[in-house]
Amino acid sequence: MLLPDPSPLFTGKEIQLRVNELANEIATDLNGADLVVIGLLRGCFVFTSDLVRALSEQGTAIQEVDFLVASSYGSGTESSGNVKIEKDIKIDIAGKHVLVVDDILDTGNTLQKVLQLFSSRKPAWLKTCVVLDKSERREVDIEADFSGFSIPNHFVVGYGLDYDQKYRELPYITVMRDDLSA
Ligand code: XMP
Repeated sequence: MLLPDPSPLFTGKEIQLRVNELANEIATDLNGADLVVIGLLRGCFVFTSDLVRALSEQGTAIQEVDFLVASSYGSGTESSGNVKIEKDIKIDIAGKHVLVVDDILDTGNTLQKVLQLFSSRKPAWLKTCVVLDKSERREVDIEADFSGFSIPNHFVVGYGLDYDQKYRELPYITVMRDDLSA
């Protein structure tokens, strides 16, 4: 049986500091432009809410926030590799500055599919931001424009990330480990 390791990989405080740094990098790149933020549900929900508030503190006006639902994982920790757009965004992104926000860049299949879809809609600026990057697992040639932390190939939970829909509420990020007491 797998359980979240009680010693976090990144504490809530460390994540918060990094989110502020990311907001600063993004605001500098935007150079005063208003921003449309699109989160990839469900894992992005905690990060997106922290990031839009940090961006606002940096003086970036958030034009709209929308969410897309894509799925590549079944239950547990295995990727299906087959990305489906289950719910598209409602807004028109043509000519806008668009930031796609995801929890973790893993194989890269999800972000690649979403970027293909969004670039066909002709935004003026299209960039990506993730909290975590598991580059060892990459299957397609893609990097996030803004990335919080690089991590080795471990399955992690917390800060919006789940294991079978559990542990999203943990304020820190931690690795799932075998329960040695079982
Ligand atoms: P790909 O492989 O398309 O996957 O880059 C991105 C999505 O896969 C999920 N994912 C994880 N979820 N812990 C999780 O809770 C992990 O370690 C993990 N690795 C990948 C996640 O939903 C991400 O958006």
